Amino acid sequence: MLPGRARHPRRAPQHPAARATPAAPRATLPAMRMRAAVLEEFDRPLVVDEVELAGPRAGEALVRLVACGVCHTDLYTASGADPSGYAPTVLGHEGAGVVEAVGPGVTSVRPGDHVVTLFSPQCRECNHCRSPHTNLCLAIREQQNKGYLPDGTTRLSRGGEPLRHFMGTSTFAEYAVLPEIALAVVHPEAPLDHAALFACGLTTGLGAAMNTAKVEAGSTCVVFGAGMVGLGAVAGCRLQGADRIVCVDLSPDRLALARGQGATDTLIGGPDTVQAVLDMTGGFGADYTFEATGNVTVMRQAVESARMGWGLCTVAGVAGKGETLDIVPRYLITGRRVCGSSFGGVKGRDQVPGLVERAMAGEIDVAPFISHTMRLDDVNRAFELMESQDGIRSIIRFD
Ligand SMILES: NC(=O)c1ccc[n+]([C@@H]2O[C@H](COP(=O)([O-])OP(=O)(O)OC[C@H]3O[C@@H](n4cnc5c(N)ncnc54)[C@H](O)[C@@H]3O)[C@@H](O)[C@H]2O)c1
Ligand SMILES: [Zn+2]
Ligand SMILES: [Zn+2]
Repeated sequence: MLPGRARHPRRAPQHPAARATPAAPRATLPAMRMRAAVLEEFDRPLVVDEVELAGPRAGEALVRLVACGVCHTDLYTASGADPSGYAPTVLGHEGAGVVEAVGPGVTSVRPGDHVVTLFSPQCRECNHCRSPHTNLCLAIREQQNKGYLPDGTTRLSRGGEPLRHFMGTSTFAEYAVLPEIALAVVHPEAPLDHAALFACGLTTGLGAAMNTAKVEAGSTCVVFGAGMVGLGAVAGCRLQGADRIVCVDLSPDRLALARGQGATDTLIGGPDTVQAVLDMTGGFGADYTFEATGNVTVMRQAVESARMGWGLCTVAGVAGKGETLDIVPRYLITGRRVCGSSFGGVKGRDQVPGLVERAMAGEIDVAPFISHTMRLDDVNRAFELMESQDGIRSIIRFD
């Protein structure tokens, strides 16, 4: 923990509605108008428009966004490919900002707190939150998947028509109302553009190595994919003290970034990758492999590149609808294991603050991941950059 974390001064609430009605009950803050990127129809550009946001109700907080990353999942939903997607909605889930106001009963965040949004919340009370084996909180899953806050309603609307909340976050907007269990309070001096990356991709990769696989010092790791998730996994393997970290990607530029995060070897991916890994490891394969491409053929390579006896393959990539992973059972019988990892197995409120502090301490080099910084109005350009694989992350800044 860095000095001063618990003692940082709390800023006064800045929500205009809060200022205008200091005596009003907090549950009934009037709605405010703000700009947000609305997915009106699948496979059409987002529309940046004025929308209304009602104040936080019980258990909720109003957050002023400072920075938000643009992730593949936003594009996946915008494109219409996600079978569980819905519209109209305000996209965005890689947010970082400042708490402006809280609803009744909120105890874990206060106005002035710097926060990272959590599409993967942590209620600390459900069966899963109480188990050390998973980070998949059960508390608000059903409503969140439908685009509603935990009470089954939405705070977002436009012209009187409700807009749904995307992933419980909707952070392509100047402000967002989120359940307090979906906010991780981070160090007040953490740069919020860097902190935003911990809301999804970077934590997913780091956690896959540090939490899900629990890479042991001195081991050999292979990471397939050098996007945000794969590069995070490379950094996670390094932080765990891995001896050898092989990164596999199709792009030499991305492999150069992987070296910057601690990869000791790099390979251009292809049909011979498994053999190349075996050749590098005395014919046995790696202690830990990670898949961060979303391609089921690569997932199979990741399984087959894991060492007999104890090799563990961690799958983080999200496959296309209906796709399946093909594994010859002999690979399992001879001691390889396969597991999946969502948000890196990270319990967000407990663990994201510590990861952010490790970045502040210089242990994780976040700056190379931010390739473009832009305003909300340019959100569709961020999607174009992503589609052309130009850079790792575009960050929208609101300040
Ligand atoms: N599990 C989770 O919680 C979680 C969270 C965020 C993202 N994801 C998923 O993780 C995956 C990676 O996300 P990202 O943002 O890093 O994506 P990305 O597209 O930026 O990176 C994927 C990388 O895989 C590489 N690649 C493609 N084919 C390859 C091959 N045959 N061999 C080797 N490399 C290959 C690409 O060149 C690219 O660099 C996606 O499927 C995404 O949906 C999962
Ligand atoms: Zn994401
Ligand atoms: Zn829970």
